[in-house]
Parts: sequence; C-alpha cells; structure tokens
Amino acid sequence: MATRIIVLAAGKGTRMKSAMPKVLHTLAGKSLLLHALDTVASLTPAGITVVIGHEAEQVRRSVTDRSDLALHWAVQEQQLGTGHAVLQGLDGIADDDDVLITYGDVPLTRASTYQALLNVCSDQSIGLLTLLMDDPTGYGRIIRDGGAIVGVVEQKDATDDQLTISEVNAGVVAIKGGSLRSLLARVDNNNAQGEYYLTDIHKLAVKEGLRITAVHPEDVWETDGVNSRSQLARLERIHQQNLAEQLMANGVSLADPARIDIRGSLQTGTDVSIDVNCVFEGNCSVGSNVSIGQNCLISGSHIADNSVILANCVLENAAVGENVTVGPFARLRPGTELGSNVRIGNFVETKNAQIGHASKVNHLSYVGDSVVGTNVNVGAGTITCNYDGANKHRTTIEDDVFIGSNSALVAPLTIGAGATVGAGSTIGRNVPANRLSIARGKQIDLEHWTRPVKK
Ligand code: UD1
Ligand code: CA
Repeated sequence: MATRIIVLAAGKGTRMKSAMPKVLHTLAGKSLLLHALDTVASLTPAGITVVIGHEAEQVRRSVTDRSDLALHWAVQEQQLGTGHAVLQGLDGIADDDDVLITYGDVPLTRASTYQALLNVCSDQSIGLLTLLMDDPTGYGRIIRDGGAIVGVVEQKDATDDQLTISEVNAGVVAIKGGSLRSLLARVDNNNAQGEYYLTDIHKLAVKEGLRITAVHPEDVWETDGVNSRSQLARLERIHQQNLAEQLMANGVSLADPARIDIRGSLQTGTDVSIDVNCVFEGNCSVGSNVSIGQNCLISGSHIADNSVILANCVLENAAVGENVTVGPFARLRPGTELGSNVRIGNFVETKNAQIGHASKVNHLSYVGDSVVGTNVNVGAGTITCNYDGANKHRTTIEDDVFIGSNSALVAPLTIGAGATVGAGSTIGRNVPANRLSIARGKQIDLEHWTRPVKK
C-alpha cells in the first residue's frame, strides 16, 4: 500500500483577470501550486500527479527546478469537471493505494490535516474534509442522514432546504485507488453545470456500503482557495500573521506583527527585535540579540549574534558577522561577507567583498570584488574601480590600512599592510606596506589673483 497524491490544477482562474495561470500567482513569494506541492510532499507519498490543462506548459515549466518532487503530469484537455480531472490522473495508481485528492489553488492546508484524512481512508471508508461555514454560499453542501454523510450536493444543484446546510465540502478527499476508479467510472454529467463532479462519488459509495468519514481542519483558512486577487491578498495576510505569531513565540520582538513579510524562511535566535516594514526573502537567518531597523529588505542573508542593521538597508545574499553595524541606508550585494565588529555606514555599497574584523567603511563608498583585511579604515567616498569596461578586477587591502577620503582605487590592486593612502588619491599601482601614498594634483596657492566681479 502506497500513498499517492492527485493535485487538480487544470482550471483557468477567470476571476484573477490575469494572463498567468491562477496556480502560478504567489503567496509569500512562492506559487500557490508550490505551496500545495511542498505540503503534500512532506507526507512522503510514492507519487504526486498534477492534473494540468489551462496554460499547461507554463504550469509545468514553473517547477522544472523541483526535480525533488518527482512529479507526474496528466493533461486534462477540456475542463469538464473535478471528477473528469481526477480520471485523467489515475495512471499508475493501484487499487490498494491511498489516494489523496487536493487542489493546486488551496495553499495553506496543514500536512496534519491531510494526514488525518489518510488515516481514515480504508476499503470501508472515504475521508472527506468538511467544515461549518457561516456563509456556505458557493460550496458543495454535506448531506447527512441520521448523522451519517450520504452525499454532497453542489450549490447550483441544491434545493432551497439543502442551501440552508452550513456544513460544506472543502474539496479534499482520501480514498482507496480501486474505489476511486470504479466510482468515477459511474459519475455522469447530468447536473446544473453539465460537469462530471468528483463530489458525486460519495452518494454512489454510500450505496455500495462505504462510509464517508468527515475530517475537520483545525483552522478555516486551511481550506481557503484562491479565486480572486482579493482572496489571494486576504490569505497572504493570514499567512503572514501566522508567521509573525511563530516568530514571537520563538522569542522575537516585532514592532508590529502586521508589518513584517516573510517570503521564504527565517531562522532566529533569541531576543531578536525587528522594526516595522521589514521584508525577508529566501532563506535567511538572524542570530541572537540582533536588531533590525525600519524598512529593511533582507534576502538570502545571514546575520550573526549581536549585530545591528539600521533603517533602510538592503541585504542580498550577504553574510554579516557578530557585533557588526550596518546602515542606515546601506546596500550589501551578493558575496558580501562581513567579519566581526565591522562597521558599514550610510550610502555604502558592497559586492563580492570580504571585509575583515573591525574594519570600517562608514560613508558613501563602493567596495566591490575586494578582500579587505582587519582594522582597515576606508574613508568617505572611496571607490574600488573594479570594472574597466570589459572585465572585473580584484582589489586587496591588507590589515591596518587607512584609505583617505575620496580615493579611487583602480583594480587590479594590492595595498600593503599598514599603508596610508592620502585623501583624493587615484591609486593605479600597488602600494607597498607601511608607506604613505598620495596621487593627486599638487596644490598651488596663487598670490596675485583677483576674483572676477560682475560687470
Ligand atoms: C468544488 C467542489 C465543491 C467544494 C469546492 C471547495 C466539485 C464538483 N465541487 O467546487 O463541492 O465545496 O470545490 O472549494 O468538485 N479543476 C480542474 N479541472 C476541472 C475542474 C476543476 O482541474 O475540470 C480544478 C480547479 O483548477 C480547481 C479545483 O479543481 O483547483 C476545484 O475546481 P472549482 O471549479 O473551483 O470547484 P468548485 O466549483 O469550487
Ligand atoms: Ca474553487
């Protein structure tokens, strides 16, 4: 017996009013489809089949980098209903398999909810996810007789009496492969929408003596699907609120839990504090006693213990050591590695730069393709001229160097340990250790000169 998943994702998503297939719209920086797929993959099934149709190739291409999911694809050429969609995905499913059917546009269902459905799936029982809704409009209603579920009726086929039922079908089913195949073969499209409804299997199953076992989600939002941009935005807020609660439970202070966005994963130490309007993307980690100021974008970056990121910084694939201060208004680009006790100040840009312990780049500088040693002071306005218009070149600044303000360091270049560069220099060849190098126009002070006056 194996677990197999069928994910329905063939629908058009008309109400999104988008050229992009609905399941490729993103929630927390990840497509709706990948949310669904990552969750079912955590159940370690023997296989996941995705039923695609509308913009099938685009949907398929969107996950080409996820070979770990070992997806099977089934194409539903025409969207003739959920039952018809499942039929297209039955290849390779054995009678004894437990089959979990989910939707690609429902991103936030917990794996534990899916597992609960699988747990009640047997030769005698079908697991069906249901819940009570204050406003059940649009959903299939659960029909019970003496407490037992005897069928599901779609909104458009329901009688006035049935429309008052508040228990609805969330859409997720766990069923044995053999039952699914034989029941689906008997589903017709004689209904208000002329569709083959997956939900019709239940009344047929009950007639054959099977039991429909209801499983309920812990939270209502687990079953929320996305049909419109408004629903997508609402789910995004719910998800972000959940992530913020988790962070706080783990010892992070948030200035406002409604003003943080995590589009990826964020590992945190204790006593981290994060001010308003910070966005985290990709895999990020933040050590203990770290504080992050307002309006920072932290992407694929790691910040070690006791460091401070001041307001309005952008960090992208950067590693920040311990006791470091960055910003305000600094931009750390990919390949930036800051050692312990480093200071990066305002309007400083770094890229592919290793900057050693206790070195400072405090104002208005660009340090790129560089290795900077320990205890170096890079003066205001210093630029590493790493690009000659065709190639990038490296700059090495050894320990204890002092670079005067407004210097241009033309790479390739090495500045020896302990050297000093005079302010305003353009340095085009290597500076030996411990020298003072100055390369700028000599100052002249004219005595016999009068300032022009207005005629
Ligand atoms: C379906 C259920 C309804 C339930 C509701 C929960 C049926 C007949 N009805 O209704 O009982 O309350 O979900 O949200 O199952 N899809 C395909 N191919 C198709 C049709 C649909 O792949 O031919 C996919 C859609 O892309 C979507 C999912 O199946 O992801 C559900 O389809 P949708 O049309 O939204 O079903 P509902 O009318 O909402
Ligand atoms: Ca729907």
